[in-house]
Amino acid sequence: MQSEKAQEGDSMTQLSVQNVSKYYGSMAAVSNLSFDVQDGEVLGIGGPNGAGKTTLFDVISGLTPASEGKILLDGVNVIGARPDQICHRGLLRTFQLNAGFDTMTLRENVLISCYFGRQNVVAPGLGFDRETRRRADRAIEMVGLSQFADQRVGEAPVLHRKLLMLAGAIACDPRILLMDEPAGGLSPQEIEQVIGLMRELRAELNLTIVLIEHVMRFFVALSDRVMIMHHGEKIYEGAPSGLLTDRTVIDVYLGEGASERLKHLVEAEAAHA
Ligand SMILES: Nc1ncnc2c1ncn2[C@@H]1O[C@H](COP(=O)(O)OP(=O)(O)O)[C@@H](O)[C@H]1O
Ligand SMILES: [Mg+2]
Repeated sequence: MQSEKAQEGDSMTQLSVQNVSKYYGSMAAVSNLSFDVQDGEVLGIGGPNGAGKTTLFDVISGLTPASEGKILLDGVNVIGARPDQICHRGLLRTFQLNAGFDTMTLRENVLISCYFGRQNVVAPGLGFDRETRRRADRAIEMVGLSQFADQRVGEAPVLHRKLLMLAGAIACDPRILLMDEPAGGLSPQEIEQVIGLMRELRAELNLTIVLIEHVMRFFVALSDRVMIMHHGEKIYEGAPSGLLTDRTVIDVYLGEGASERLKHLVEAEAAHA
């Protein structure tokens, strides 16, 4: 990890992705992508399946190396840093597919996140220290899982598994949280519950959040700003409301030429009125 300070951007920029590409063979899963995330902001990332959204998170969190480009976290270039080093710098993430140790309880899972996620543990102790226990219980309480803490993860419903990943992340004192499809597979009622929870956590923990989501209700309810990806590239960045009128975004979601057809429909409707 280089300790150079960023030349570009101001002190409010917490995450700066600069000309990042990721190739799998000759296929660019992420292609020359640049964007910034400001302190305290919620950035929503959308786009069709295969657009490169998860790969982008994998590159930012250090799970897979970028092929090209620069990633600055609080002004420090983290290209080449290991996932645990990036985690210890305050960037935490959740996964699209539920991650967790199925045969252990929810509490044990959060304890492990909290123990290894906050500090470099060279020689793990035989038990968890008091501070780790306190933080884990607090995180479990914050996501509303206290009464289920002794349940095995393998037996927990989808909502609890999603909340578990969130608890594991917030137990580590995140400054920036990356969430990959937190609402996927949830019922409309559960989605409303998680939206309410995310709003509370954001305010209470002063979080910066980047979230990938297909569920439009979730996406629009929480995002200050959105970015849409397609074939690894950014095709839109701006206010959520701008999505409704952006031709490229409409074509990508509804099929090529859809914006023209929509325009004709709207004009025909106006002529009738
Ligand atoms: N480990 C990998 N090896 C090869 N190709 C991959 C790998 N991970 C993702 N891809 C490919 O990269 C593209 C982007 O995938 P992904 O980032 O999962 O998209 P999204 O999350 O937007 O649905 C897809 O074409 C996918 O098949
Ligand atoms: Mg994905």
